[in-house]
Amino acid sequence: MKIAIIGAGNLGVSVAKGLIFSNAFTTLYLSKRNVQDIQDFEEYAKVHVTSDNLEAVRNSDILIFAVQPTQFERILEEIRDELTDKHVLISTVTGFKIPRIEAIIGKHHYIIRSMPNTAIAVGKSMTCLCSNEAGEKRIRIAEAIFNRLGTSIIIPENKMQAATVICASGVAFWMRLIRATTQGAVQLGFDAKDAQELSMQTCLGAASLLIESGKHPEEEIDKVTTPRGCTIEGLNEMEHNGLSSSLIKGIQASFKKINTISD
Ligand SMILES: NC(=O)c1ccc[n+]([C@@H]2O[C@H](COP(=O)([O-])OP(=O)(O)OC[C@H]3O[C@@H](n4cnc5c(N)ncnc54)[C@H](OP(=O)(O)O)[C@@H]3O)[C@@H](O)[C@H]2O)c1
Repeated sequence: MKIAIIGAGNLGVSVAKGLIFSNAFTTLYLSKRNVQDIQDFEEYAKVHVTSDNLEAVRNSDILIFAVQPTQFERILEEIRDELTDKHVLISTVTGFKIPRIEAIIGKHHYIIRSMPNTAIAVGKSMTCLCSNEAGEKRIRIAEAIFNRLGTSIIIPENKMQAATVICASGVAFWMRLIRATTQGAVQLGFDAKDAQELSMQTCLGAASLLIESGKHPEEEIDKVTTPRGCTIEGLNEMEHNGLSSSLIKGIQASFKKINTISD
């Protein structure tokens, strides 16, 4: 695959690292206006750094756009005349809907929207993908790329806002839960470093149990809640204080907000 990342900033560089370490390309172009901070990538074989988006587009088949929403329209206009039917366009740009991309470059191009999260930096992103009608023929390419950088699923475009809340904002929600259980562990006598280690690894283990077994969380909860035991005592106290309800309300509040800030 001949891949270009247009906008090699935070997300673009994370994607680039994932592609380099999984050896997932024939050539990789990294493009941004000021290239000093990404110049080191030239040391990798078959990686080219450029400030010329057109050069990146001409020499690549898969174009991954990782620029800010305010920059995207101008970049699409800039590259529009270089696009051919070999190109697959993958946008990571938050809130920039497919019809808006089609209005600039045309409906006939393969257009895919992706919503990764910051765990892409460690190859663990939950990425949601959708495409325009033409792009349905190429969405497996995007799936293959993002599966090297974590896990991906294909969803309809009208669920992208909801997916952003669950997966992108979701990283912050889970961080706060890890911080809270870390604080609890400190109160029980662990130093801060050990407390965080216990909390993070327990969180990772709980998620891994579900991923590997395919079970419902409640089945795993049943295994650790002895009747009249300490786990059910703690769990019920958390629920009396609104644990599940506050998480669901928080998710609903984020969703309400995202619908007011993006078109
Ligand atoms: N970070 C995440 O985890 C995440 C997750 C999901 C979605 N997103 C979305 O991904 C996009 C990128 O996010 P980010 O955090 O990586 O932003 P960022 O760090 O600001 O990166 C954007 C990059 O675009 C470059 N750029 C600006 N104008 C350009 C142009 N005309 N041609 C080529 N490159 C240009 C900038 O570098 P120069 O100024 O040097 O050109 C900058 O490095 C955003 O739309 C964001 O909403 C991010």
